[in-house]
Amino acid sequence: MRVSFSFFGVFLSFLYDPGHGNGGTFGCGNKSVCDLYCSFCVNSSFRTCYEVLVVHLCRYHFNVAMASMNSTVWCSLERVKSAYNNFTVCTETVADCLLLPWPNHFVESIFVDIHTTYFQECPTEALRDPPPSIVLALVMTPICLIPAMVVLVVLKTKNGDRRS
Ligand SMILES: *[C@@H]1O[C@H](CO)[C@@H](O)[C@H](O)[C@H]1NC(C)=O
Ligand SMILES: *[C@@H]1O[C@H](CO)[C@@H](O)[C@H](O)[C@H]1NC(C)=O
Ligand SMILES: *[C@@H]1O[C@H](CO)[C@@H](O)[C@H](O)[C@H]1NC(C)=O
Ligand SMILES: *[C@@H]1O[C@H](CO)[C@@H](O)[C@H](O)[C@H]1NC(C)=O
Repeated sequence: MRVSFSFFGVFLSFLYDPGHGNGGTFGCGNKSVCDLYCSFCVNSSFRTCYEVLVVHLCRYHFNVAMASMNSTVWCSLERVKSAYNNFTVCTETVADCLLLPWPNHFVESIFVDIHTTYFQECPTEALRDPPPSIVLALVMTPICLIPAMVVLVVLKTKNGDRRS
């Protein structure tokens, strides 16, 4: 699972190229919390700063919330829902403030990491299911591979012809 996830992580980086975001430009969302996030980010590119905030703010709070629960209930959707939603909202709010696209490649990889860390062993499908954008990538991957496979088949066929 880990291997396939990292493969899709690589694939996702093509879908969401963060380089096309507003990283490094000035501007700040107009929510009241944004002033705080933006002032924290004055000295670095917004994209770098976004990653710092997501890890040290959003992910940190999520880890604390999960650690405060008995790990036997990690697979209970009811019990982790609040922490999970807070984490999702946190990553989205910070992105809105820093005028970055959401979801983005970095957030995808953090979600995958959270799922492998906490929900890998869950027997129910509820939490093992990756977030929707990853499902999109899972669906898109075979579609995008088709042209590549056609080219491969054509090349293989040509090579075979030449050899025979
Ligand atoms: C600022 O906030 C208002 C209302 O909350 C919203 O309609 C507007 O689009 C926001 N502007 C920007 C630049 O985000
Ligand atoms: C940004 O850089 C200035 C000058 O180097 C420094 O005084 C300030 O504390 C820095 N701000 C943050 C949030 O790191
Ligand atoms: C977690 O729950 C299990 C079973 O419900 C229990 O045996 C264990 O002592 C609990 N651990 C903690 C740290 O509460
Ligand atoms: C989620 O956020 C709400 C509101 O900020 C807070 O009351 C709640 O304790 C948080 N839940 C977790 C699990 O951190």
